[in-house]
Amino acid sequence: MREEINNLKNEAVAQIMEAATSQEIENLKIVYLGRNGKLNSLIKNLKDVTPEDRKNIGMLINSCKETITTLLSDKRFSLVKSLTEKRDFFDLSVPGQNPKTGTLHPLTTVLAKVKEVFGQLGYQIADGPEIETDHYNFEALNITKDHPARDTQQTFWVDTAGSKLTPGEIIMRTQTSAMQGRVMEKIKPPFKVLVPGKCFRYEQVDASHGFEFWQVEGFVVDENIRLTDLFGTIDFVLKEIFGPEAQTKFATTNFPFVEPGVDTYLKCTICGGKGCSFCKNTGWSEIMPAGMIHPNVLKMAGIDTKKWNGFAFAIGLSRIVNLKYHIHDLRVLTNPDLRILRQFK
Ligand code: DAH
Repeated sequence: MREEINNLKNEAVAQIMEAATSQEIENLKIVYLGRNGKLNSLIKNLKDVTPEDRKNIGMLINSCKETITTLLSDKRFSLVKSLTEKRDFFDLSVPGQNPKTGTLHPLTTVLAKVKEVFGQLGYQIADGPEIETDHYNFEALNITKDHPARDTQQTFWVDTAGSKLTPGEIIMRTQTSAMQGRVMEKIKPPFKVLVPGKCFRYEQVDASHGFEFWQVEGFVVDENIRLTDLFGTIDFVLKEIFGPEAQTKFATTNFPFVEPGVDTYLKCTICGGKGCSFCKNTGWSEIMPAGMIHPNVLKMAGIDTKKWNGFAFAIGLSRIVNLKYHIHDLRVLTNPDLRILRQFK
């Protein structure tokens, strides 16, 4: 019996050592330690052993069982360990995959910067309707029904058929200047207001025109405002946005709601002033129309022009984005291709 036990132990040890998979280990466990396993059939033979020998043989079987059990569990552990070492995804030194994160649209980034800069100057932000009345979009801005300036603002008219509204009374706003009248009627001077928002015009879409675009209107009403206050403000803001080397110049122009009206030019940031297709070889980019608010606009809003005056300006947001990121085609800004957006970190 002693020999049988020793043989069984040796056989088990040899097989466990040779096992190459955890499945083989599980099988060996059943073969040797299972209910109908080899060890149990030895135990069944104990009854044939003389009572004197039984205790010693029993101890021998127990120690054999312990040896097999320990060996099985050691081998199982070493197999699992060598397996995990082989697997790449357990290798802590392999760099992980970066999850894709979103980026801000360049228009959003530039708008945030514009708001921040004007915020420093004490401007408050106002928001207004994109569907506007003819009154605020035109009349309140000194653009009467038959004014030729209306021709420059290719207007989308909202269909009023079937409603009580007069045809032509409701439009898609063509300019954020429409908020001047709304704000001036509501709050008392002095004030500084900034109105970012979308505008709409019936434009043929090409590299420099869109039927929908962002404008940021700004206006200030206070006592003794001078044209140089306007120039200083614009120059400061453009230097904040484009850096201290930004250069501005002004030329007169005409808008019915300002007198005088001026156009702001920024030295072209794309060619550095040498002349390129973007600045039409002039070295300067038209960036921001502005002017001193026409007294008629103030009067229509009930503001006493003997005491108050002011200036107004409009930033074409996409123009700033073009010049800041050197984008030549406006359509890039409304293209949903993520490969474009991912470039603006
Ligand atoms: N609202 C004008 C437009 O979209 C631009 C403009 C010109 C706004 C002069 C102003 C200004 O505030 O002073 O054509």
